[in-house]
Amino acid sequence: MKISLIGCGNMGLIYARAILKYNIVKKPDLLLVEKNNERAEMLRSLDMGEVVLPQNPKVVESDLILLAVKPQDFIELSELIKGKLTNSNVVLSIMAGITMGFIQEKLGTTNIVRAMPNSPAGVGMGVTAITALPSVTPDQLRKAEHFLATTGRTVYLEDESQLDAVTALSGSGPAYFFYLVKNMIEAGVAMGIDEGISAMLVKQTMLGSFHLINQAEKSLDELIRAVSSKGGTTEAAFTVFEETSLGENLKKAILKAEQRAKELSKH
Ligand SMILES: NC(=O)c1ccc[n+]([C@@H]2O[C@H](COP(=O)([O-])OP(=O)(O)OC[C@H]3O[C@@H](n4cnc5c(N)ncnc54)[C@H](OP(=O)(O)O)[C@@H]3O)[C@@H](O)[C@H]2O)c1
Repeated sequence: MKISLIGCGNMGLIYARAILKYNIVKKPDLLLVEKNNERAEMLRSLDMGEVVLPQNPKVVESDLILLAVKPQDFIELSELIKGKLTNSNVVLSIMAGITMGFIQEKLGTTNIVRAMPNSPAGVGMGVTAITALPSVTPDQLRKAEHFLATTGRTVYLEDESQLDAVTALSGSGPAYFFYLVKNMIEAGVAMGIDEGISAMLVKQTMLGSFHLINQAEKSLDELIRAVSSKGGTTEAAFTVFEETSLGENLKKAILKAEQRAKELSKH
């Protein structure tokens, strides 16, 4: 199998590293397609595969072609590859908000898989939702899934429109988590704890609690109850969460993100 990674910025480079690590392709079969000269030089120094410009005819000869440019750069890119794709290529797009219908119109192919990864992909712990047009063969879909699974887990969605909700939930989700962690660390500092120690306490609490969610045979409500005693400290904190409708506001914020994903979506 040959792979072209078009756009080797943050995400493109994450995939280049991950697919070489898991032997999805060998270096000679990996094409790093980058238009930014400085970035291209840096990629050459990493020696991960051949670095070429998007105009290079080899770009469209690969079995799997990843579109990892910014959504606003897609039209310019599409003009270079439109009409050059055949049934043996599958296009895998991770561009936020660009629908498969729009990609089909601009590239003239129906072999399209669309995916929404998230930033923990960089440490192999991402989660990626995938969907595909009906003309994508099971073999092409399997290749795309293998590719994406090098950065974490994958989940298949029948309905493309749910990718807006995925963008709001797991795409933006890391930022919600970082915000929570940041504010908890700041609360520790406000109570007089050294910042480094506060960060360690909060990060380890998050990590341990995550494992409890997965390993304890308890629901989330039971886990909350297990650390809340009547009239105690957790309960005191929860009275403020309730007074300020923290849970409701969090859900509202995520629905707002979904709304924004829909507004930004190109059909
Ligand atoms: N970052 C995330 O967490 C995340 C999560 C989910 C989805 N995504 C999606 O992933 C895509 C890439 O995001 P990113 O953060 O990796 O962006 P990025 O760091 O800006 O990388 C994009 C790279 O593509 C280059 N490029 C632009 N047009 C090109 C062309 N025609 N041919 C070849 N290369 C071209 C850019 O060069 P210039 O710098 O010269 O423009 C840049 O180096 C976006 O569509 C985004 O929506 C990102």
